[in-house]
Amino acid sequence: MNGRSPYSGFAPGKLLLFGEHAAVFGYPAVGVSLDRGLRISVTPADGISIRLARPAGGDVAAGLSAFAAFVADTLGSPADDGPVSPAGGAITVDSDLPISSGFGSSAALCTAIAEWSLPDPQVSGHDRSAVWRRAHRLEAFFHGTPSGIDTGLSSLGGVRTFRFSTPGALPESAALSADLPALVVGAIPRERSTRDLVAGVRSRLSTEPSTVRPIFDRLGALADAAIGELAAERNHAAGMAPLVADAHHLLRDLGVSTPLTDGIIDRGVRAGALAGKLSGAGGGGAFYLVCPDAEVAARVAADLDGTLPPGSVCFHMG
Ligand code: MEV
Repeated sequence: MNGRSPYSGFAPGKLLLFGEHAAVFGYPAVGVSLDRGLRISVTPADGISIRLARPAGGDVAAGLSAFAAFVADTLGSPADDGPVSPAGGAITVDSDLPISSGFGSSAALCTAIAEWSLPDPQVSGHDRSAVWRRAHRLEAFFHGTPSGIDTGLSSLGGVRTFRFSTPGALPESAALSADLPALVVGAIPRERSTRDLVAGVRSRLSTEPSTVRPIFDRLGALADAAIGELAAERNHAAGMAPLVADAHHLLRDLGVSTPLTDGIIDRGVRAGALAGKLSGAGGGGAFYLVCPDAEVAARVAADLDGTLPPGSVCFHMG
């Protein structure tokens, strides 16, 4: 929108189905944008400031003010992602995603700001790649070396696949017209940030390549198999369940799950889910369970809900 008038915009969060962490190293991924997300309201101002509409704990306010400086620098420096915004703005963020939970709140924030800062045709047109490219540049603040899949899901929406062909470039993304199986989706507070988790995996890859590379190869193969499953015309619960279970075990071997997440998944399976896995960077955060149908999903969500720590969310979809 890019002008000096009040603005309001929404960007969705995401649920990664397969491919987290491996995607940072060029392996395929698949995920879905959520109905939940984050809304920004912007009033014209000199410079850029960002604040939360509702207070959050921890260092969120300090983090947002550092991010505001990064946004101002990034939007002020010429790049290949479209005209640079001349406008400043006081940005207020209202999120119905828990912040830093693995549901892509930072990617949604970057997408919402990218949309605000770009001219209308690049935002509302058919080709949303300018929004994605700019959101991706902004996400470097949060992740250091984002793969682009989180901002891709927020910018482009729907169930999407991601495949990398050029190192360092954004992946190619395609929409899948798949009906997902019934899912229970949740998030618990995180013990480590995405940046730390991604850096930890990178460091393990360099010190233990013979352990970590085969894990990535198998995670990549599972993402491929899941994309094949979702492309087929059938109910996907039975086909996805073994892939989900394997992917979670591999992510646990990679060191990004926690005993609490593992315990929630075990409990969900005992309550009737077919399988579950963490979603996103891990360290706590988001997870999902595949269920045979919506009725079981409602029952599993109700069973888990009372057992999750304060600050968690749990819902079912599909
Ligand atoms: C985080 O939601 C997903 C990671 O794969 C990081 C990334 O792809 O940028 C862990």
